[in-house]
Amino acid sequence: MSSSFDRDINRADTASVKYDGRNNMFGTSEVIPLWIADMDFAAPPAVTRALAERAAHPVYGYTQYPDSLYESLIDWLRRRHGWEVQREWIMMCPGVVPSLHAAVMAFAEPGEAVIVQPPVYFPFFSAVTNTGRALLQNPLRMENGHYAIDFDHLEQCAAKARMLLLCSPHNPVGRVWRKPELKHLLRIAKKYDLLIFSDEIHADLIYPENKHTTLATLAENPITSLLPLHPAKHSTSPG
Ligand SMILES: Cc1ncc(COP(=O)(O)O)c(C=O)c1O
Repeated sequence: MSSSFDRDINRADTASVKYDGRNNMFGTSEVIPLWIADMDFAAPPAVTRALAERAAHPVYGYTQYPDSLYESLIDWLRRRHGWEVQREWIMMCPGVVPSLHAAVMAFAEPGEAVIVQPPVYFPFFSAVTNTGRALLQNPLRMENGHYAIDFDHLEQCAAKARMLLLCSPHNPVGRVWRKPELKHLLRIAKKYDLLIFSDEIHADLIYPENKHTTLATLAENPITSLLPLHPAKHSTSPG
């Protein structure tokens, strides 16, 4: 089972946002669509085969998550990232962006501050502003030719925020955060009772000389459920 990375696949007229949506987005189709994280390589044959087998059954009713899905996920996280996950911690969701919104609503009260570290994937901002939480920005700093977290400014933000949305590895600057950086983040989080939501969707897309560290493997008290909701840190309501 091999994948070809040399085949040029024409995606025109497949209702793809990346190609067919260019006119809506940019007013012209004469642009190279680098703005969207969408692969132009064929899906692996095993995936296409499994989908074709499922599609061959003519009834498309509601489905449940099979045990094999949980087992694959748990196994992958253990083998690739050294993270031991319990099945009951896993909550299936329609995507990362909806989860960002859900987490902001679950853990920060309306009006409470949520920190994001620009430049960052744009839905990080809207997950805060769409849900009526206050956006607090801790811009990354350019240091010796690479981006770094501004920890001094982060401490100032943390003192007045409920939550930090971490992008790890960081899109778009391409940083794989190192263990000392993540530990520094956790020290600040502990000191200021700041909750970190870590989006690690790009954990498997890094160059071999790097090592991704799952934040939860370093945290003393990783949160393993959206419930119970945390009490507001800077609530304006009585009690
Ligand atoms: C950091 C990051 N999170 C999430 C997503 C998208 O996740 P989803 O499509 O599951 O909502 C992207 C896509 O580019 C991304 O870069």
